[in-house]
Amino acid sequence: MQPSPPPRISLANLPTPLERLDRLSAEIGCDLWVKRDDLTGAALSGNKVRKLEFLLGEAEAEGADTLVTCGAVTSNHCRATAVAAARRGLASHLVLRGAEPDLPDGNLLLDRLVGAETTFITHAQWEDRDALMAQIADGLRAAGKTPYVIPEGGSNAVGAWGYIAGAGELSQQADAQGVDVRRVVHAVGSGGTTAGLALGLADHAGVEVIGVAVCDDRAYFEEVVRRIQRGCGASASFTILEGYKGVGYAQATADELAFYAHVARTEGLILDPVYTGKAFRALYEELRAGRMEREGATVFLHTGGIYGLFSFASELDAVL
Ligand SMILES: Cc1ncc(COP(=O)(O)O)c(C=O)c1O
Repeated sequence: MQPSPPPRISLANLPTPLERLDRLSAEIGCDLWVKRDDLTGAALSGNKVRKLEFLLGEAEAEGADTLVTCGAVTSNHCRATAVAAARRGLASHLVLRGAEPDLPDGNLLLDRLVGAETTFITHAQWEDRDALMAQIADGLRAAGKTPYVIPEGGSNAVGAWGYIAGAGELSQQADAQGVDVRRVVHAVGSGGTTAGLALGLADHAGVEVIGVAVCDDRAYFEEVVRRIQRGCGASASFTILEGYKGVGYAQATADELAFYAHVARTEGLILDPVYTGKAFRALYEELRAGRMEREGATVFLHTGGIYGLFSFASELDAVL
């Protein structure tokens, strides 16, 4: 691992709570906890905020005035980056995969509200997202600006520090609260959270880091996470669980939506259909079936994403 962390600024409300899910623990027959990283903030919320503390730390140290990043039109990472930029007096330019909707809602509405510039690209153009962001950065430099490019999901060695530090926070809290953590389960979208968590928990033998793939597959994410860890100069073990993508990325079945309603009604815990819902369903199904060990405490890392819920209003309404 790098000898010392990169520069960091403060953006997230930390530490986030570690709470027991009493009724779901009883329903499953296990000791289930949730690390509430959905509460890192309001508009500036979710797992991306931890990464952005380090990414913006580096950007500001380099004198950047404009953040450039990319994601889906509904991206939580892009929204968090745009809000963080506005919070720090910087500009932002988002490269968004998908068609521009007639009426922005959810994350895109917030992107617009905080003044992000947007460029919409097709799925085919997405293959060249890094080159496109480099072009945008060149254009900004030619206009006298100082851009800082953040890769998809904020998932690189600098961003991974968000969860190296987050893992330290979790283990201190678990010790203070007497929680015997054996596994931490979370959604994987671009790999940075898994990479950092695994590195941060590497000294805690007996704690398994389990990432649930919400897109792509296990082989893809194993490679991505290892690459990010190599960038940090270290490696640490983790497990990628597949089989819970459902019908596809950012798509939800009626069964899945009914499950999210069950969790919301049982614990007041709001899951989003793109990331946390799929990961939490994996944890629930695997524990119930006995494929995931039940001894000790299982911690679900809630990575946020609530604004993604609103794009599913009509499908969700149908199951309520
Ligand atoms: C709400 C939410 N949870 C989880 C993830 C996955 O995190 P990572 O991109 O670090 O794999 C993302 C981002 O893609 C996200 O927006």
